[in-house]
Amino acid sequence: MNFLEERIVKDGIVKEGNVLKVDSFLNHQMDIALFDEMGAEFKKRFADANINKIVTIEASGIGIACIVARHFNVPVVFAKKSKSINIDGDVYKAEVESFTHKCKNNVIVSRKFLGPDDHVLIIDDFLANGCALQGLISIVNEAGGTVEGIGIAVEKGFQNGGRIIRNLGFHLESLAIVESMDATSGEIVFRQQ
Ligand code: G4P
Ligand code: NA
Ligand code: NA
Repeated sequence: MNFLEERIVKDGIVKEGNVLKVDSFLNHQMDIALFDEMGAEFKKRFADANINKIVTIEASGIGIACIVARHFNVPVVFAKKSKSINIDGDVYKAEVESFTHKCKNNVIVSRKFLGPDDHVLIIDDFLANGCALQGLISIVNEAGGTVEGIGIAVEKGFQNGGRIIRNLGFHLESLAIVESMDATSGEIVFRQQ
C-alpha cells in the first residue's frame, strides 16, 4: 500500500451506499503534510508533462490543488458551481450532474483565466462517475487549451468514471483506486497499480 492507501485504511470510514468518508484528513479537516506528499507524487507521475496551470472544481478539489500547485510552481484556477445561468458570454460553461447529490450544476470558468496557451493538469479529490471531470475537460477544450494530465486522490474503481476517462485517452493518475469496500466489515480493497 502507498501512503494514501495506508491513510485511508487508518482513518477512512466506509458508509452505506458505497460512500467513503475521508473528512478527517481529505475534504473537511485537511492534512496538509499528506497533501504535500500527494503533490510530490503527482509531480513524479507527470514529470514529462509541460504543465503551466492546474484546474480543479470547488469545493473540495481546491485545497489539494493548491498544495499540488506548489510542486509545479503554477497557478490554480477552480471552476465555480453556479445555479444561475450566466449568459454574459465571458465564461466557459459546462453542465455537471452529481449522481451522489442528485442535482445539476452549471460549472463556469472566466475566459480571462484559461486559453489556448494553457497546458493543464486537472486535479480533484474524488473520481466516481466522472461527471465533474468531463465538465472540466470540456471547459479546457472550449478554451482551446490542452489537458496534459488528470490527477485524482481517490478513485472509486467500481464506478465508471475512470474507465471512461482512460478510454478517451487521457493520462489519468489516481493515488488510490478503491476496487471494493464493505460498510459492515469496514474492509477496503485497493487496485494493484
Ligand atoms: P462524479 O463527479 O465523479 O460523477 O461524482 P458524483 O457525481 O458521483 O459525486 C458527487 C460529489 O460527491 C463530488 O463532490 C464527489 O467528489 C463526491 N464523492 C463521490 N463519491 C464519494 C465518496 O465515496 N466519498 C466522498 N467523500 N465523496 C464522494 P462534489 O459534491 O461535486 O463536490 P464538493 O463540493 O464536495 O467538492
Ligand atoms: Na470534488
Ligand atoms: Na467532494
